[in-house]
Amino acid sequence: MTETPRDRLSQLTLEQEAALLSGTDFWSTRALPGHNIPSIMLTDGPHGLRKQSAASDHLGLNDSVPATCFPPAAGLSSSFDPELAERVGVALGLESAIEDVAVILGPGINIKRSPLCGRNFEYVSEDPIVAGEIGAALVRGIQSQGVGASVKHFAVNNQESDRHRVSADADERTLREIYLRGFQRVVTDASPWTVMCSYNRINGVPAAANHWLLTEVLREQWGFGGVVVSDWGAVDDLAASVAAGLDLEMPGGGRDSAGAIAAAVAGGGLAAADVDTAAARMLDLVTKAEARPAVEGPLDVDAHHALAREAAGRSIVLLQNESVADSDGLQRPLLPLDTASSIAVIGEFARSPRFQGGGSSHINPTRVDSALDALTEALGGGAQFAPGFAFDAAVPAEEQARLRDEAVALAAAQDIAVVFLGLTDDEESEGFDRTHIDLSPAQLTLLDAVLEANPRTVVVLSNGAVVRLPFAGRVPAILETWLLGQAGGSAVADVLLGRVNPSGRLAETIPQRLEDTPAFGNFPGEHQHVNYGEGIFVGYRWYDARQIEVAYPFGHGLSYTSFAYGDVSVQVVDSVSGDLIVTVPVTNTGASDGREVVQVYVGRADSAVQRAPRELKAFASAQLAAGETREVVLHVRGEDLAYWDTRADRFVVEPGEYLVEVGASSRDLRTRATAELVGEHLTLPLTFESTVGEVLAHPVAGPIVLAQLAGGEPGEPGASEGDGDDTMLRLMSSFPIGKLANFPGRGLDAEAIAGLIALANGATSE
Ligand code: BGC
Repeated sequence: MTETPRDRLSQLTLEQEAALLSGTDFWSTRALPGHNIPSIMLTDGPHGLRKQSAASDHLGLNDSVPATCFPPAAGLSSSFDPELAERVGVALGLESAIEDVAVILGPGINIKRSPLCGRNFEYVSEDPIVAGEIGAALVRGIQSQGVGASVKHFAVNNQESDRHRVSADADERTLREIYLRGFQRVVTDASPWTVMCSYNRINGVPAAANHWLLTEVLREQWGFGGVVVSDWGAVDDLAASVAAGLDLEMPGGGRDSAGAIAAAVAGGGLAAADVDTAAARMLDLVTKAEARPAVEGPLDVDAHHALAREAAGRSIVLLQNESVADSDGLQRPLLPLDTASSIAVIGEFARSPRFQGGGSSHINPTRVDSALDALTEALGGGAQFAPGFAFDAAVPAEEQARLRDEAVALAAAQDIAVVFLGLTDDEESEGFDRTHIDLSPAQLTLLDAVLEANPRTVVVLSNGAVVRLPFAGRVPAILETWLLGQAGGSAVADVLLGRVNPSGRLAETIPQRLEDTPAFGNFPGEHQHVNYGEGIFVGYRWYDARQIEVAYPFGHGLSYTSFAYGDVSVQVVDSVSGDLIVTVPVTNTGASDGREVVQVYVGRADSAVQRAPRELKAFASAQLAAGETREVVLHVRGEDLAYWDTRADRFVVEPGEYLVEVGASSRDLRTRATAELVGEHLTLPLTFESTVGEVLAHPVAGPIVLAQLAGGEPGEPGASEGDGDDTMLRLMSSFPIGKLANFPGRGLDAEAIAGLIALANGATSE
């Protein structure tokens, strides 16, 4: 057997091991040529390869080798299609392999806590199951090519403001159920080679030096065996980071990190065993990277562009499609476009598409399709263009007015107007957050004027994160395309013209106003702290719990066909763990083939803990020919029904009845059934602090105390008030049992209570 880099660990000195724990330059790990340990390259990610040829930076400022720009996560996640995400991952892995890149820095799966986060375009969803499923699929695809993924940014990095210092202050239940759950799924389902820790602090402790996060949660509880790499520049004190569970500081080449490690070991501040462990993990990573056979280029640019177009087409969300009178006076949905009609293509975005975001994920695309070119190619002279507005806010008002008037005249003269609106690079990017969610006044004014001139208007939106849609009720048809990557222009034309039947779904709610959003008032925090005051109520969990009207709900997306749902049936596979099989017949009731994204939401009314009315627990695609019916089978994992119990410090599936609702969006639920679960009756050790209610619920102590509580003087705790035992028990239920000893005569003195507690705890610990 040939010796691998990992086999050489025992030959290394402490200094050599320490040298492996920081990079040698911007993108490469350190080689130890004397020991035949090569350097490997890690580079961005996430939706295309950004391998810089010359000057390196981590903000996407300098050029990189041409690569396919696939839809950024905001687009791709709207496909709700892990199989597609996996194919995109395969392509990303292949492009990395051709460029001899060992690890591509993605996917990014941080939760979209607020629509203001400048990096939402790079993130998947407001929901952890969607984030985890799409993230795991991308990782599987990338790693199938012998290239590592780096799931990032671990963790609770949900804003750009003050991202290097801010402390995300959140309670543990919120962390576990919302902000860590997606990462947990990616780690357990897809075993990423690396995890990238974030810049921010979590409850005061920097992620890069957070033993609880990097060692207890990630490694000990989730079983992660790979490398933890820092976000670029996140490490302040490498010795402290290594002690916490970090293995690789990036970039490197500046300060003497290896020397600092050796000094920390010599000074007793860092265990040599920790250095050994981190070096072993680094050598495992190098060994895996070296095991990949060389892949020869050139890249099949056309094939990957075609995949980018397919992915983009599947990610577009048809928000609405009202019927309007066509040229013959017949009422029909405005989309797909009637190709016999003349079309006014309006908006600079049609000609100069915004297809990716700014910062470290900025790809140098192999080519770029514009919707204008694609529509002109399909419709010839049937499509006429006017830019309508200028991107540059410095363009004088008179010029903006001229552009608007020209576009309005065009709209009035054509049968249909298709208006392309969106956010520019200046408005959203890595590095800063937005302060509002509005489209520019120039665009909104233009749209109002076009609508006045021609009510048969379609809006096509390009934006990396949610924008307010004050025109939602007035425009018959709206496509939310997010950012779609380099083939997005063609994909938009495919959907407008009906060559692709839209099937994307909202992976984030579109609220009516910024003021309605969950983190409003708690974003982006102040004085280096951001309070996650909304707790678990993120995204639709918030809007549903508070019964807030939204513009378009989570999971929403229309089709050119229609689907009917039959009755759902729920099979309890394991009543203790909570695993369910959900089966529902779905019929394509329209005239064209299409894909329905079937969504399963689960709620637990009257729970012992606060819960959202419903949470997404599974989703699946059903590709159905016109008229076809298929049974769609979905698996709900019991672990996803569990809540984080802060007393037991672990996930618990609460016993009782769960409501399983199935439908086309979080607010379009078509069929429901219940599932009764045995779950887990949590019996916690009793103490003097335990309340009477808790003691009564205890299987051993409860019956004993009930007997003791009968009788006693009125007015005294524990005594019956004569108006029924129920009232008395409600009065008493939050009274600590230990305090009953302060009321003599109840037969429950301190000794008796201690005996009861010992008896109860002894019986339940066996
Ligand atoms: C970003 C990471 C990126 C890294 C390297 C950082 O600023 O947060 O997402 O992978 O730079 O470019």
